[in-house]
Parts: sequence; structure tokens; C-alpha cells
Amino acid sequence: MSDKKPVFKPNKEFAKNANIKNMCEYHDLQDKAMEDYEGFWGDFAKEKIDWIEPFDKVLDESKAPFVKWFDGGKLNVSSQCIDRHLDTRKNKAAIIFEGDRGDVQTITYLDLYKHVNRFANLLKEDFNVKKGDRVVIYMPMIPEAAYAMLACARIGAIHSIVFGGFSSEALRDRIEDAEAKVVITADGAFRKEKPYMLKPVVDAALTGKTPVKKVVVVQRNHEDVEWVAGRDYSYNEMIEQKSSICEPEVMDAEDPLFLLYTSGSTGKPKGVQHNSAGYILWAQMTMEWVFDVKENDTYWCTADVGWITGHTYIVYGPLAMGATTVMFEGVITFPDAGRPWSMVENHRINQFYTAPTAIRVLHKMGENEPAKYDMSSLKVLGTVGEPIDPPAWKWYYEEVGQSKCAIVDTYWQTETGGHVVSPLPGATPIKPGCATFPLPGIMAEILDPATGEKVEVGEKGYMCITKPWPAQIRGVWGDEERYVKSYFGDVKKDGKPVYFTGDGAVYDEEGYITITGRTDDVINVSGHRMGTAEVEAAIKKHDNVAEVAVVGKPHPIKGEGIFAYIVLKSDDGIADEVEEVKAINSIIKKEIGNIALCDEMVFTPGLPKTRSGKIMRRILRAIAKGEEITQDISTLEDPSIVEKIAAMVK
Ligand code: PRX
Repeated sequence: MSDKKPVFKPNKEFAKNANIKNMCEYHDLQDKAMEDYEGFWGDFAKEKIDWIEPFDKVLDESKAPFVKWFDGGKLNVSSQCIDRHLDTRKNKAAIIFEGDRGDVQTITYLDLYKHVNRFANLLKEDFNVKKGDRVVIYMPMIPEAAYAMLACARIGAIHSIVFGGFSSEALRDRIEDAEAKVVITADGAFRKEKPYMLKPVVDAALTGKTPVKKVVVVQRNHEDVEWVAGRDYSYNEMIEQKSSICEPEVMDAEDPLFLLYTSGSTGKPKGVQHNSAGYILWAQMTMEWVFDVKENDTYWCTADVGWITGHTYIVYGPLAMGATTVMFEGVITFPDAGRPWSMVENHRINQFYTAPTAIRVLHKMGENEPAKYDMSSLKVLGTVGEPIDPPAWKWYYEEVGQSKCAIVDTYWQTETGGHVVSPLPGATPIKPGCATFPLPGIMAEILDPATGEKVEVGEKGYMCITKPWPAQIRGVWGDEERYVKSYFGDVKKDGKPVYFTGDGAVYDEEGYITITGRTDDVINVSGHRMGTAEVEAAIKKHDNVAEVAVVGKPHPIKGEGIFAYIVLKSDDGIADEVEEVKAINSIIKKEIGNIALCDEMVFTPGLPKTRSGKIMRRILRAIAKGEEITQDISTLEDPSIVEKIAAMVK
């Protein structure tokens, strides 16, 4: 239990200059938010955002759970990230890019301003992209991905980034759902010194009927790609002719900034919508509080811009606060597991943010690598995406952070926009594997779903947020009902629906929060959310599959792996199991991408179901883990199936 965990106090020297210096300051902020919620947020919004026109009202909850923040206010998020820094930081590095092959590019705030404006003009003038239009970005980790995001923000277009590892079918679904008229992509990029391709995936996604009229292609690896006349355009050829001045579109505080598709427990991925002012405010504030980035610091987050971590903590958060953010194209274990540490040394990285999966891989492949490099610049280490296990935490703390850096275990989600529960590096005494306390202004509580009351110490409950916060999801694109049902349907406090994250959590005796994992059917593979329904729908596309159920199984590196129980239609189907596995995996690859490949598949004669036909995933999870079946199975349609499946898995 977390109360037995050792406690690590903040580094005293570090705390002296930290933005939040001790727990008293933390409590003062949290108390202020509790006493005067709107005053708390209103003051920060006035202080942090360069408003074109001030807002009239801090929070409008009259149509909850559809809420409005800073209504009446006008701003432009790209100006917040770039223009306002030009007076004081025009020659400061905004982005330091390191390519896979070690090529380094430094982009100052002035450079960024020009690149973004040119890109914005290109979208506006050549592709007729207007405020409110959707633009899909399917890009590698190169600076042009950030330019593309900010160019959309500049002209008021809504971007929807699709992670470069998703397949053409997954890309097609997201393009269609958002009705995007433009796709921004690249020929490809480099991975382990070899070129890989993205443009052919876009070509495949656009076959047949598509809302996409134009495709902009950034040439990065200069490999040959097919060009569709009248549809495909070369960014490199067009961009230099564009003006480097583009007036920012005046946006309402609640105008949408972007969509990002993420998995839920049922159905297709949802287009999570984030709006302008509230999102950028919280992105900036959490950068300042949680990473404590100072003016001359260099900050590196290893995520991909295709995930929310890349949105908030590679691009929007760091740039909104005027920081220097590192972008990395390559693979962290190439050419060896010392790569990130050589980058820490070369760029004098001060804050390093990654996922537990990456820490486990780096630990396993290069336990002694950090000691070979000068790691003295590091001040704060972050983790995100899944609970971090004690061995990984210990190695990260001792070997990477040399027992002097705070580890901020940041708990949040695509839907929360930014961190919600996290240590503050100069204030919070940390416990390994523990996300600690809600950030100031965030009313996060662990509730009993049955009563809506706060749970007792040591009792598992639902991680909820009981008041709206500025960076919260504003809707599921095109599906109001799904928004309400997915997030505000499970828990009520004092009779009022509250936001439920989908995660379980527990308090220890000192009130520390430990996240215990998803309570629904979402699987967390290497910190990436996979919906069971999505993977099952892909597997069902195989002609010979009658039924399927997938569950998560603990995995030593990935956190969770995907375990599939498959019932085939034909009896002789299992004759060639190896071929069947290959065929199913190639369908998953086509439908979703490599990230959803199954770690294990078993072909079973049936699935454990209730008499009403519901698959009992809990039993399947227990079997996958090799646990004893303790629950009552007598009410199943066919109780004998449990034993049969368990025997096959052993
Ligand atoms: O289950 C929680 C887990 O990741 C989920 C959110 O996934 P996604 O929207 O893809 O965003 C990932 C990056 C923010 C959560 O519902 N999760 C995230 N951070 C943590 C975590 N689980 C435990 N500890 C964390 N620090």
C-alpha cells in the first residue's frame, strides 16, 4: 500500500527558486481555488493570456456538462505561443530539433513566427482553409508538424493530428469523422538511419470517396512518392514564396482549437474537442508549475505530437510560456540505449519527460548508460501514461536523476488537456508510483460510485473531477450524447453528475493519490490507449473469426499487452495456428496499425458469457494472468468453458 512507500523530499536548493516552493504555497493556492473558484481562474487567465479582447465571464455552467470558460474573451493561440515573445525572446531557441541521424536544427521564436505565418498563408491562399475547417495532420516528428499545428491555430482551422503509426484505415476513419478538407503529411522521415514512408498511407486512406480536396506534402526524406495532380502539393516548393506575415484570426475563447481521436471502452475512437483559451491557459500554467521551466532552461518531452502529451507538452505548453522545447525524430534506443543521455549532455537538458515504458526499455537495454554522460543539467524528471513500477522508478531516480531530481508522476488524459494530479517538484514530498495530489484549481477526488462520497483511506474508488476546469474536453466531435454518456454518466456527487476519468484510484493515510488503472475495458499499451472494441472489430474482419474478446495482460515492458481469445468459425481452422495468427495480425495492422498487434492469441471453443450474452472479460483477464478463478461462474451460459479455456492458456 502506498503509505509504506518511502518519501523523497524536494531538493532544497531547487525548491528555493521553484515557482511553488513548499506545501504551504500549494495549500494556499488550493484554498484560494476552493474559496473563490472563479476568482482563482479569472486572475490567472488575466495574468497569463494576451487577450485581444478581455472576457466578460469566467465560467458559465448553465448548460453543464457543456461549459464555457472566459466567454466574451478573444485571443489567438498561435499569438500566445509566438508573437507575444518576439519583443523579449526573438532570438531565443523555441524549438531544438534533433533528427534521427543526429542532424540538429535550432529554430528561434522569430524563425518560428515566419515559418508559421508562411504555412498559414499557404493553407489560406492556396487551399482555401477557413476558420472552423478541419485539417488532418499525419506527420513525423519534425518541426513542420509544429508549424502545421500553429498555422492552423493562426487561421482558426481545427487540426486533428493522427499518430504516424496508425494505418490507412484508421486514418481514413478519422478523416471522415472530422470531414477534413486538407491533409498535411510528409513523404516520410528517418528511423534508425533508414527512410520510412507516410505519404503512401495517406494515398491509401484517400482512395474512393473522401472529403479531402488537397494534400500538402513536406519533403523530409526525399524518397519517391506518387503525386496526384491537382490534389498533392509540395510544401518545400511553395513555402518560400509565401509572405511571412499573416494576421492572426481573432478567435473566441471557446472556439475549437483541435480534435484528437482517442479510444473509449465501446465503439469507434472519439474526437475529443479542445477549445482555445482554457486549454492554452492550463497548458502554460502546468508547464510552469509541474516542470518549473526557467527562462534559460531546455526542456525535452519524448512523446510524439500524435498524442495529447505531444500536443500539450511539446508544442502548446512550452511555446505558450516561451520555453525552449526539444523535438526528436528518432528512436530513443538507437544507435544504443545511451541516445537520450547523449542528448541530455549535448543539449544540456534541464527537464526530461517520458513514459514508464520508455524508462523500462532504457533500463533493460542500458542500465549503466546514464553514468557515461554528463547528466548534471537535469533538474526535473517526468513520467506519464501509466503507473510507474518501483524498479523503473528507482533506476530513473538514482541513475538518471542522480538522486537529486524530483520525479513528477503526472496523471492526466487526452480529455483533461493537461496534468490534473501531479507532484510539484519544489514542494511535494514524492512517493514512488504515486501521482500525489490534485494540482491547484483541480477538484479531483476519489469517489465511491455508489454513493458519490469520498472513499476512505485504502479503499478503491473512481477518480473524478467534481468541478469543470479550463482545459477540460468540450465535446466529442459530432456526438453530444456520447460526450455526456462517456464522461458524466457514472458518478454523481450531491446528486450532480461529475466528470469520471475511467480510472480507479486510492488514497493513502496522508491523502496521496495512487492511480490503480482503468476500470473499463480500455487497455493501456506502452502508455497508449487501446479500446477493446476497436481491436475486436478489426479481428472480426477475418473471414474465419466467429467471436473474439481481447483483454489486457500485464507486460514487463509495455505495462499491458493485448491478449486475444478467438473462436473460429470452422473446426479445422486451428489446423494451422501460425498462419491464422499471422493473418489476424496483418488485419490488425491494416485496420489500426502495429501498435495494436496482439501479444498473445488463443483459439478457444467458446467464450464465457452470461445468459444474456455478455462476455465476462473479468474472467478472461484472470485466466490471461494465470490467476485462480474466484468469482461465481455458475450463472454463465456454459460454466465448463472456463476450465477449458484455462487449460488452453496454461
Ligand atoms: O489510465 C490513465 C493512464 O492513461 C490514461 C490516459 O491515456 P491518454 O488519454 O492516451 O493520455 C495519455 C497521456 C496523458 C489515463 O486514463 N495514465 C496517464 N497518466 C498516468 C496514468 N496512469 C497512471 N499514472 C499516470 N501518471
